[in-house]
Amino acid sequence: MGVLEGKIALVTGAASGIGRSTAEAFAKEGVLHIALIDIDEQGILSTSEIVDNLKTGFSTHCVDVSKEDSVAATLDEIVDEHGRLDIAFNNAGINHPSSKFHELEIRDWTEMIQTNLTSVFICMKHEIIHMLKSDTGGVIVNTSSGAGIVPAPGQAHYTAAKHGVVGLTKSVAAEYGKLGIRCNAILPGLVDTPMIRDANGELTDRAKRTLERISPTGELIKPEQIAETVTWLSSAGSAKVNGQSVVIDGGGIMR
Ligand SMILES: NC(=O)c1ccc[n+]([C@@H]2O[C@H](COP(=O)([O-])OP(=O)(O)OC[C@H]3O[C@@H](n4cnc5c(N)ncnc54)[C@H](O)[C@@H]3O)[C@@H](O)[C@H]2O)c1
Repeated sequence: MGVLEGKIALVTGAASGIGRSTAEAFAKEGVLHIALIDIDEQGILSTSEIVDNLKTGFSTHCVDVSKEDSVAATLDEIVDEHGRLDIAFNNAGINHPSSKFHELEIRDWTEMIQTNLTSVFICMKHEIIHMLKSDTGGVIVNTSSGAGIVPAPGQAHYTAAKHGVVGLTKSVAAEYGKLGIRCNAILPGLVDTPMIRDANGELTDRAKRTLERISPTGELIKPEQIAETVTWLSSAGSAKVNGQSVVIDGGGIMR
């Protein structure tokens, strides 16, 4: 029996990388239904094939998580169909090329904050609305980053957004922990996903520099290794873990 047997779950950013690996891990741990959410329609379909092969129920939702109306409608649809939402993994995100702080365009700042921070606020708001109606509460895991506690060079807006995710996580944990909703953040180091590779599939120069700077072993983290921690944080095994920022980087950052 899997540790997530019978659960109704959603994953944002499910079309790729950490989200795809986590959808697979959730399916292996027995979730009853998983809602796969992303803006990349083709990518969600590929993830849904993986989940389907594991004989797990799924639905696909081509949704921009920074748009409140679309997120609210998607959450309503999931809960109408399955009765409740037990687990939410708010993981969708973007990255930009490096920029000096004083050269950062307001357009890039706004897109980053909207996609990497406001989306987490919007998703949690509507997840909580539904979780509060359930007798069994719920569990939320948000993807922050090592940049959620230390600055990523040339990435002031990414750093601000990921620090913000940690703040939102603590706020929700403090407000809703006693009402049966747990909320934690994961803070990955450098993970081998399309986000850190160029169009030819090569590691970007920034990724190479980051690896040198933050990885104690010089190794990239595999998305499956992140998914293991997300699965544990979503399971009863972590029942007393709430409001935490769980760094998954092999020991690069110690606080
Ligand atoms: N890869 C790393 O080294 C690393 C390190 C720390 C944190 N993270 C974070 O992990 C999360 C997942 O990233 P990944 O590495 O798997 O990258 P990825 O590019 O493989 O996956 C990100 C997914 O998010 C989706 N997405 C982007 N904007 C969206 C939107 N507005 N609405 C819906 N979906 C959207 C993309 O389509 C993509 O499928 C991100 O939040 C990222 O910031 C990644």
